[in-house]
Amino acid sequence: MRIDILSLFPDMFSGPFGTSIFQRAVDNELVRINIYNIRSYTNDKHHVVDDYPYGGGAGMVLKPEPIFEAVKKVKKEAQPEKDKSSIILLTPQGHLFSQAIAHKLSGLSHLLLICGHYEGVDERVRQHLVTDEISIGDYVLSGGELAAMVVINAVVRLLPGVLGSKDSLEDESHTSGLLEYPHYTRPAEYRGWSVPEVLLSGNHALVAKWRHEQAIQRTLERRPELLDKAELTSEERQLVQELARNSTSSLLSKAKTTRSESAISRPQT
Ligand code: 6GU
Repeated sequence: MRIDILSLFPDMFSGPFGTSIFQRAVDNELVRINIYNIRSYTNDKHHVVDDYPYGGGAGMVLKPEPIFEAVKKVKKEAQPEKDKSSIILLTPQGHLFSQAIAHKLSGLSHLLLICGHYEGVDERVRQHLVTDEISIGDYVLSGGELAAMVVINAVVRLLPGVLGSKDSLEDESHTSGLLEYPHYTRPAEYRGWSVPEVLLSGNHALVAKWRHEQAIQRTLERRPELLDKAELTSEERQLVQELARNSTSSLLSKAKTTRSESAISRPQT
C-alpha cells in the first residue's frame, strides 16, 4: 500500500512512523508513506496557504489552489489504480472512523490523506477533489494530523504480514462487533487476586465459552449500543437478555451516565 499525506506540519509525523510496527512495515515494503508539505504547492511569493472566509466570521480557511496542486503532483507520482484509491479529508465533519472503515481502507492500494486546519478547507476541495471525509470522534482537534496518524495506524496493522499472528486480529475488540474479553498472564495469583479458574483448566472449549460470555457482558456494560449492530446467534441474544435482566436497571443506567468518568478516573495500580 502507498500512503501519501498532505499536511501543513509534516514534522508532526516523524515520531509515530519511526517506531515499532510501522518501521517494520516500511522496512519490509508492506507500506510506503510519503509526506507532502501543502505550503510547497503555493505559487505566490509569500507561500500563503490560508485566507479570510467569504462572508466574514472568525478564523481562516485553507485555500483550494495549493491542495489541488499537491493532489495533482501526488496522482502523477503514485499513478493510483481506479477503485483502489481513496482521497480522504480529515475533518470533524467527516464520517465517524471505525474498525469497519479501517478494514475497507486496508483493501485499497493507495490512500491520500489531506489534513485540514484552521476553520476548515475551502468547500470546493470537498466537492471536487476528495472522495471521502473522516472524523475520528466527536471532539475538535487543532488539525487533521493526529487523526491521520490514528487512521494510518489502524489501517496499516491490518495489512497482511504487518502483525505476527492472524489470530490476534480476529479476537480483538470491534472486529467481531464486541469488546474483547479480559486477559490474564502469570502469576496465577497476584496480591491475593486470582486468575479465573476456567483459564487454568486447560479445557479449550470452556475457555472459549467463558471468553465469549465475558465479551458479551463487557459490551453490554460498557457499550450497549454495539450489541444492536453485532452479529449474534439466537443463543447469544438470549444470553444478552439474561445478563441484562441480572444487572439491575439502575446499575445499567448508572454505567451509561458515568462510563466516561469512570474510564478516566480509574486508579492506576
Ligand atoms: Cl479528522 N480533524 C480535526 N481537526 N478534529 C477532529 C477530527 C479531525 N476528528 C475528530 N476531531
